Amino acid sequence: MPPLTLQSSVLLSSGHTLPLLGFGVYQNRTECYSACLAALKTGYRHIDCAQIYLNEAEVGRAVRDSGIRREEIFVTSKIVSKNHGYESTLKGVEESLERMGLDYIDLFLIHDPLSGSRKRIETYRALVEKVQEGKLRSIGVSNFGVKHLQELLAQHFPIPPAVNQIEIHPFCQLVDITTYCRENNIVIQAYCPLTRSLHFTHPLLQRLSHHSRSTPSVTPAQILLRWSLQKGFVPLPKSTSPSRIAENADLYGWELSEEEMTELDGLDESQVERMIPVEVGKKKGEKKAGGEKWKRGGSVSWGGSVVDWREGDGL
Ligand SMILES: NC(=O)c1ccc[n+]([C@@H]2O[C@H](COP(=O)([O-])OP(=O)(O)OC[C@H]3O[C@@H](n4cnc5c(N)ncnc54)[C@H](OP(=O)(O)O)[C@@H]3O)[C@@H](O)[C@H]2O)c1
Repeated sequence: MPPLTLQSSVLLSSGHTLPLLGFGVYQNRTECYSACLAALKTGYRHIDCAQIYLNEAEVGRAVRDSGIRREEIFVTSKIVSKNHGYESTLKGVEESLERMGLDYIDLFLIHDPLSGSRKRIETYRALVEKVQEGKLRSIGVSNFGVKHLQELLAQHFPIPPAVNQIEIHPFCQLVDITTYCRENNIVIQAYCPLTRSLHFTHPLLQRLSHHSRSTPSVTPAQILLRWSLQKGFVPLPKSTSPSRIAENADLYGWELSEEEMTELDGLDESQVERMIPVEVGKKKGEKKAGGEKWKRGGSVSWGGSVVDWREGDGL
């Protein structure tokens, strides 16, 4: 494999190329426009947005104002479960296009699988039509477990999902899902690749950040992102700060050794819980009926709510 660079990309099953390093804009309402411009100036060419982030307009404006040719920038948006369904998705895609002020969106994802089997399939059918109309280039899913993916692939849509965007970092590796995706030519986009900075003080990250390359300037954030890239994932770090935006793209010309990668692989805690959501809308720490607390499982909170994951059954 040629050495990784900021320009490295992966070929999706749709035939389009996805830049390997993405830029996240979740929880960035006020500084989204300036952050996207800073990211594009730094050399990122891939921005990860969603309807519920409420900043599609700022992302679109930054893309248009950047001075970079539209076809060189890869833009993603997503539709959450409360808006799933055939008609609402057709309308939702049009609304995203209008808010972004773009003629097409590079990648559009079903944000989560929580609308249930029938709506998941209807939503996907609408996305396929939007690709056929030329409004979307690639389509995929997010927060899908193996059962959700199996269900979708069993429909034999003419356009299969090109990506599954899930929480992935050394502490959350979801190996069963990533293995299934690789076997089915579905690229993994890794969200929360920095663990939302929760694990930067972990002793292994501290040790590797001091010893993994000749200069001592590599940071825990860079270790996490480099691990993600070397595993073949597409990390989507978010930052509002120009210096951290630059730091998160300064990942090249050095690498983690096989031994260091193995040590990082050893941090996985995600096998404790599987990626099958059973309920959404409970606050982390809130008591369930039986007195047990809701746990944070294999995925992320949406707007302060957490999804509790249970092994075994689907929705
Ligand atoms: N599909 C989904 O359901 C889903 C869910 C969650 C996230 N996502 C996507 O994935 C992206 C990334 O996830 P995330 O935003 O939740 O978490 P993240 O990228 O893991 O962490 C972002 C946090 O880390 C801080 N940070 C960034 N770079 C840093 C650095 N070099 N040193 C120290 N701190 C740093 C940021 O603060 P500053 O901004 O102050 O730098 C921010 O608080 C999102 O923005 C979104 O696009 C998707």
